[in-house]
Amino acid sequence: MAPPRLIARHLAHPRGVFGRFVGGLMNRYNGRMNRFALELLGAGSSDRVVEIGFGGGVTLAPLLESAAHVTAVDRSRDVVEWARARFRTMVDDGRAEFRVGEVEALPLESEQFHKACSVNTVYFWRSLPEGAREIRRVLRKDGLLALGFLPGEAMARLGYPEDIFSFRAVDDIRNALKQAGFGVVEVHRPGPDTAWVVIVAK
Ligand SMILES: C[S@@+](CC[C@H](N)C(=O)[O-])C[C@H]1O[C@@H](n2cnc3c(N)ncnc32)[C@H](O)[C@@H]1O
Repeated sequence: MAPPRLIARHLAHPRGVFGRFVGGLMNRYNGRMNRFALELLGAGSSDRVVEIGFGGGVTLAPLLESAAHVTAVDRSRDVVEWARARFRTMVDDGRAEFRVGEVEALPLESEQFHKACSVNTVYFWRSLPEGAREIRRVLRKDGLLALGFLPGEAMARLGYPEDIFSFRAVDDIRNALKQAGFGVVEVHRPGPDTAWVVIVAK
């Protein structure tokens, strides 16, 4: 079922007290897709990882447990502040960094990450080619991306509001990633009946 419009607007850009509440909903309802994406990402103890669009932050604790360093970027200033407060010790220890920024112009240097992940964000990217190019730019040459999303056809079927969510076809994302320089692009589903997918690109 599609989320009500007010919630949908905060999924796109969480703000204030209600945005924080919606962050809790994200963590609850998106948990399975995020866990599957992290499994495919396979972040290890020497990996520097970047996550883009972390929202309620369901991935942050497991990533910080497994990776050497986590940089997390979100366009919402509020979620960045909440994450900085929640993981202050990790930030002070130099193991985590939270930045305000957009996938189309990441505020990050090139080729510094082994792994990148982004879950439930492609519906809000202003440009698939620019987002894909930016992620490719900040990854090392042998870097790996896990990108989780609900394909557009499922969103249409479920009645998601198209003025808030851009419906993305799997093939459009695959093509944007290939154009951006990813040589191998694989589509994963945990089971044949799962509507959402996680694309792994390297
Ligand atoms: C639906 S939430 C998903 C949060 C989390 N990844 C999950 O699966 O529960 C989308 C998040 O991506 C952020 N976001 C949307 N568009 C973005 C963009 N172009 N660049 C960076 N962050 C973006 C939003 O601010 C929001 O926090």
